[in-house]
Amino acid sequence: MPHPLVPPIVAPSILSADFSDLPGAIRVPDPAREWVHCDVMDNHFVPNLTFGPLLVAAARKLTPAFLDVHLMIERPERLAPAFRKAGADQITVHLEAGHDTPLGDVLAAIRAGGARAGLAIKPGTPLAAAEPYLGAIDLLLVMTVEPGFGGQAFMADMMPKVRDAAAWRAKHGARWLIEVDGGIAPDTAPVARAAGAEVFVAGNAIYAEPDPRRALEALRDAVR
Ligand code: DX5
Ligand code: ZN
Repeated sequence: MPHPLVPPIVAPSILSADFSDLPGAIRVPDPAREWVHCDVMDNHFVPNLTFGPLLVAAARKLTPAFLDVHLMIERPERLAPAFRKAGADQITVHLEAGHDTPLGDVLAAIRAGGARAGLAIKPGTPLAAAEPYLGAIDLLLVMTVEPGFGGQAFMADMMPKVRDAAAWRAKHGARWLIEVDGGIAPDTAPVARAAGAEVFVAGNAIYAEPDPRRALEALRDAVR
């Protein structure tokens, strides 16, 4: 199945899903339209612990959808090959995480392994810090909450960063996508869309709703 890389794209985050029915949660998005966002946390880079390549491999068996793997872990380069082998289509690492090798090499290795390479920046990290890498990525993830937990409030004050990223990209003719993650819901997603965001990660706004499929449609409508 050709993967959807044409924005706007909604990416349900299974972090907020009912893990006792993982197949049900992973089948909520339409694989022809949406991505499945997998939040990997190590209790070091963020104060929370989630899952590793085994679960991504399980997700890979359950859906042909584009698997968007967000690594909130230290030394992501040590595990990136395992996530690729598990079926990740895109691997996003944090600029603020510790790396054994230069970040540019980490991103290049992800691409060389056959995945798209994403770079994530926390709310306190300015776009300028990411600039050295913007020529060698496939996606820039502008966090709209502090990473670590679902269900937090959207930080509208990140919108200037999204606008600056879109302006940088236009100026330099770059082709990466701009993703936002945290507090995205039908009321906040249009704000991010107006600022230039193209991929909308949403956990609670989809999986904490009584009808996740309908909630996903509402979000899709909100960014159309
Ligand atoms: C937070 C994660 C998010 C999280 C978003 O650190 O990166 O992907 O699942 O959850 P909501 O949409 O509930 O803010
Ligand atoms: Zn995420």
